Amino acid sequence: MTDGNEAPSRLDTGSKVDPWRLALLLSGTGRTLENLLATIARGELDARVVAVVSSVAGARGLQVADSAGIRGYLVPRRAFESDAAFSTAVYDTLMPHQPHLLLLAGFLRRLVVPPAWEGRILNIHPALLPEAAAYAAGRGRYGVHVHAAVLANGDTRTGATVHIVDNDYDAGPPVLRAEIPVAPHDTPATLAARVFAAERALYPAAIRRYVTAHPELRGDRG
Ligand code: GAR
Repeated sequence: MTDGNEAPSRLDTGSKVDPWRLALLLSGTGRTLENLLATIARGELDARVVAVVSSVAGARGLQVADSAGIRGYLVPRRAFESDAAFSTAVYDTLMPHQPHLLLLAGFLRRLVVPPAWEGRILNIHPALLPEAAAYAAGRGRYGVHVHAAVLANGDTRTGATVHIVDNDYDAGPPVLRAEIPVAPHDTPATLAARVFAAERALYPAAIRRYVTAHPELRGDRG
């Protein structure tokens, strides 16, 4: 008989690994951050958000981080002369927090990925990649712009894609996708709402799948 309060036995100790350490990069409202925090709070993702970087001053996402007691940083792109210098500043900012995985969460700047971070960064994009990449992904294609492009192309289905970030903008290998049908009456706004609703389950599922398949993420970089 046990009362549930006894100390763990020797065999039990050491079997529990620490939660995955996630760092988020954002530029906007922080809805994706809120969704991941809620998923973690429900016990559906064994992870901790250890730090947040925003490329935009005053982004609501920084307030979301602050309210959750998560350290937030501002790294504005215009303070740097190149994407590479900006990216280095982002990595240097996050390194003290020792993240296992970086997650782009409504992040609208180009990241240059050096070898030490290859395979350690995921993005979520609100379109089906790679097939919609030519018209609905890449620089300046975010939010309703993406959905307007999907409608203009006459697509009958769209969705969201979680993919590995590499040095081609919005073009790294997909990890997981969610598909939704496009209805005749859809507008960019109605599509945006349905796609984001699908993203709420997709991003946590993709993270779980990715970290499960890549235990080496817990190891040293480079
Ligand atoms: C999401 O729909 C995500 O797919 C999109 O930004 C939204 C999240 O931003 N990302 C992109 O368009 C990246 N190219 P939020 O969390 O600030 O609402």
